[in-house]
Amino acid sequence: MRFDVLTLFPDIFTGYLSQSLLNKAIDRDLVHVDVHDMRRWSTDKHQKVDDRPYGGGPGMVLCVKPVVESVEDIQKAGNTPGRVVLLTPQGRQLNQKVIEELAQEERLLLLCGRYEGFDQRVTDILQPDEISIGDFVLNGGEVAAMVVIDSVIRLIPGVLGDETSAVDDSFSEGNRHLEFAQYTRPRDFRGHVVPEVLLGGNHEEIARWRREQSYLKTRERRADLLDE
Ligand code: ADE
Repeated sequence: MRFDVLTLFPDIFTGYLSQSLLNKAIDRDLVHVDVHDMRRWSTDKHQKVDDRPYGGGPGMVLCVKPVVESVEDIQKAGNTPGRVVLLTPQGRQLNQKVIEELAQEERLLLLCGRYEGFDQRVTDILQPDEISIGDFVLNGGEVAAMVVIDSVIRLIPGVLGDETSAVDDSFSEGNRHLEFAQYTRPRDFRGHVVPEVLLGGNHEEIARWRREQSYLKTRERRADLLDE
């Protein structure tokens, strides 16, 4: 799967892209990520890509020309134009269902805003899939783009090792439960002991206990998931 990230702050992605899971997926050609600096499409001598809003008001607005032209150029440089995703608090809310939908795409272009957002004509012309990661305002779309990449790549076959699978993830299709509690050594830490059932080796009993824990936790914290 191919991701193209369009941003004014490409350095934000450096550390994230070198982390081991993603790095391994990139090395194994399962994932390809290109980060593009939208300033490259500025025709201004100071590489300006934003301007004051018509009608007045605080802040700066990202200009239509460099944004639309960068997306069009990047789309042309590839076998398929891909789906354009614009990260904005005004978008539809991201959840595992949306992630599963995005994971079906061959290519995603992730458009990260800054300042007071984009000129409206960016949306009018590109008709992107506008996505919000929650009802709060970030300083820009970069962290939201990383959230999308991180949750989408988990669903690409081969990205997670054989020993892990996204099928059992909370919120995945067919699983509407929060995860049960996990324990590892030591058995006793400051008097906090591991539940006896996990030490007995009875797999049926362990599975039953985990299902029950999972249900109780969901009922207590996210009863809305059980209603769905
Ligand atoms: N940019 C700023 N805030 C955002 C949010 N909540 N989701 C996606 N992109 C954003």
